[in-house]
Amino acid sequence: MLLPTAADLTTTLAQQAGHLLRGGRLDAARTVIAALRHNAPHASEADEIEARLCLAEGQLADAFRILDRAIDRAPASAALRLLRAEARSRIDDHIGAAADAAEAALLAPRDARAKAMLGLVMIELDRLDEAAACLDDAVRHAPTLGAAWRGLAEVMTRLGDGDAATAVHDAAIANVPLDPRLRLAAMMAAMQARQFERALALGLNARRDGLADACIFGLLGHALSKLGRHDEAAEHYQDALRLAPEDPYVRHLVRAAGLLPGAVRAPPSYLEAVFDGYADNFDEHLIQLGYRVPGEIHDTLAGLIDEGQIASLGEVLDLGCGTGLVGLLVAGLPMTHLTGVDVSENMIAKAQDKNVYDDLAVADLAMFLGQTAGSWDTILGGDVFCYFGTLDGVFASVHRALRPEGWLVCNVEEDLVGTEPGWRLEAQGRYVHHAQYVHDCLERTGFDEIALRAETLRMEGGAPVAGLIIAARKASPNA
Ligand SMILES: C[S@@+](CC[C@H](N)C(=O)[O-])C[C@H]1O[C@@H](n2cnc3c(N)ncnc32)[C@H](O)[C@@H]1O
Repeated sequence: MLLPTAADLTTTLAQQAGHLLRGGRLDAARTVIAALRHNAPHASEADEIEARLCLAEGQLADAFRILDRAIDRAPASAALRLLRAEARSRIDDHIGAAADAAEAALLAPRDARAKAMLGLVMIELDRLDEAAACLDDAVRHAPTLGAAWRGLAEVMTRLGDGDAATAVHDAAIANVPLDPRLRLAAMMAAMQARQFERALALGLNARRDGLADACIFGLLGHALSKLGRHDEAAEHYQDALRLAPEDPYVRHLVRAAGLLPGAVRAPPSYLEAVFDGYADNFDEHLIQLGYRVPGEIHDTLAGLIDEGQIASLGEVLDLGCGTGLVGLLVAGLPMTHLTGVDVSENMIAKAQDKNVYDDLAVADLAMFLGQTAGSWDTILGGDVFCYFGTLDGVFASVHRALRPEGWLVCNVEEDLVGTEPGWRLEAQGRYVHHAQYVHDCLERTGFDEIALRAETLRMEGGAPVAGLIIAARKASPNA
């Protein structure tokens, strides 16, 4: 009988450790790696697998220490270069990652993973044509590389070729049918392009193919509710909730469908997910819907100036500024400074492009208001209080953040029915408020001059969305 050689044992132990790592059994993997190190202290397999373990544990400094040393010892190892490219991407060192991925692709020209990695890094560097070439090559040679397909679809979307992105998603699903992330990416792309029928079909196919994933079920429900099929949506939300009972995105949609007791506000992680995905299409879509809120806010402020209530807006804070539509309209009015705050980084990036804000911050507005007490002369809120149910807390924060006699000018969607307690979470995930409730909240909080004006905010599904335009002044301390 032939005894295994030390090299055989190294390979076997490295395979075992890799298996444990993929199964998420990190402690067991570390034990096997210790045996591997004992058997072959300087083997590049040991370096690679230990670096992988460090990455899985989030120990990036250790991963870099191991990889830098290992690459010095074995500079021709494509696997080590590829792993360091991955680690460098994690810390947003995209230039370094590109250098490693390019080296790996040269060292192993037949390894589609190296091409895929290079393509993904090129996306980060905004070199989209090169990214497309690398990713296309990768999926041709390894059609089951899900990450390469997802990258390729993203490139097509960013190049503005929606049809090509759709074709890539369809080909990806045909080649890697069991990858839930591909199904999700395809559904998200369809939702963002407002192709709700396509998102629905993709979701139903995923279900039929046996993919049980809370996000897929949640999006399926979302697509159905966008199509006005709320009862069917509720069934999918319930399934999503069963799979991910703590997921804030799923829970908010489920609440909106009336299947959980109402929450008093939409969770920030839900808002981030929705608006980060919406940022690219937001302006175009709202223009199509005849969005009137920024214009109404502008006219209300101009009215306050014309009536002599204020000479200047002074220091202005735009809550939930989004892509900057409110800022764009009000920037021409007399003011000293305009700041925007929004929970979605992608929306803020779009607002930045408009060049009308002096300052922009990515933050939850309640937290931001808490940090800027007594700092503002005017606070604006265009279509943002529809993400809060009870208004007492957020109006109190606005009140504290305003200087005496400062103004809040904002809007809410109007609840024309007037159900108790004065606000209601609607199936599309936004809250509506009753006029009397809004008025009482403002009065309780310490605003004196309060004006509510009924206006159509925009169209939705061909019908006008009723709203209230609000102007309220913080009472003077001497009043
Ligand atoms: C419908 S958009 C309106 C954007 C802009 N005000 C306008 O009128 O065009 C709502 C915006 O409010 C932001 N938002 C909602 N709740 C928020 C919160 N609690 N803190 C910060 N931003 C919030 C969203 O991210 C989104 O960009």
